[in-house]
Amino acid sequence: MSAESAAAASASEPILETRGLSVDFGGLKALDGLDLAVYPGEIVSVIGPNGAGKTTLFNAITATVAATEGDILFEGESLIGLDPNRVTSRGIARTFQNVRLFANMTVLENVMVSQHCRTSQNVIGALLYTKAFRREEEEIRRRGVEVLSFFGHRLVGYRFDQPAFTLSYANRRRLEIARAMATQPKLILLDEPVAGMNPTESTELTGLIGRLRDEWGYAIVVIEHDMGVVREVSDRVVVLDHGTKIAEGDYADVSVDPQVVEAYLGHDAAAAS
Ligand SMILES: Nc1ncnc2c1ncn2[C@@H]1O[C@H](COP(=O)(O)OP(=O)(O)OP(=O)(O)O)[C@@H](O)[C@H]1O
Ligand SMILES: [Mg+2]
Repeated sequence: MSAESAAAASASEPILETRGLSVDFGGLKALDGLDLAVYPGEIVSVIGPNGAGKTTLFNAITATVAATEGDILFEGESLIGLDPNRVTSRGIARTFQNVRLFANMTVLENVMVSQHCRTSQNVIGALLYTKAFRREEEEIRRRGVEVLSFFGHRLVGYRFDQPAFTLSYANRRRLEIARAMATQPKLILLDEPVAGMNPTESTELTGLIGRLRDEWGYAIVVIEHDMGVVREVSDRVVVLDHGTKIAEGDYADVSVDPQVVEAYLGHDAAAAS
């Protein structure tokens, strides 16, 4: 196969696929036989009521909970049995519903340490402060500055040296995305990225999600309850309820699907959309 035809073929292959994915917690099926595909360059939103299994899906993909049944494929290869660090180094990064940062580290240190999955120098190199170690450290710093600059003025300049705990809530959420970007992923999973943000911040971040795909080339899966954001960013919407997919398609179709309206949106929301 030529390089071009290989590229064309791979463009039509999913970057991420779950096949019959189930996650049981005791007697509870948080995910129940889920089939899902995400293609390169796509932004897919996952919506559904509280407890539908959305975060569990991210946890299973990133190996923080074990799949009970089924398979998860990334670029055609199974992720089952890998530990979370291996999943990150394969090219999947995520943010959390409740922000997770190193609160006492500075903004710049936060995006530097998140690159550890990409670094090659070992402890000896660090102790001896070898030339190769210094070169790599400079590169890590450069990449850290680059991902922070994506958020405009908000996380740069004097902010580099501020501990993460001093940041505003919205900036902490931005920093978490920057940490995900710093791992050099191909796929980013965003768990309710605008939750708790005010409308201005939410609109700004919605624009940034589109730019993450357009300018950085990531495929993106976003869990979001804010339907304005879902409408704005999604190429495709997947609706979960009780761990199963109850609908999938364009925002316009999914938002008027009777089952989705019944399970999640409610009749008022559907009338308003
Ligand atoms: N580690 C766990 N141990 C036991 N039960 C869990 C665990 N994680 C999730 N659950 C349960 O699995 C179900 C799905 O939870 P999940 O967090 O995936 O829902 P969600 O769709 O993300 O909901 P929300 O919109 O509220 O964030 C819920 O009933 C939840 O209580
Ligand atoms: Mg959740």
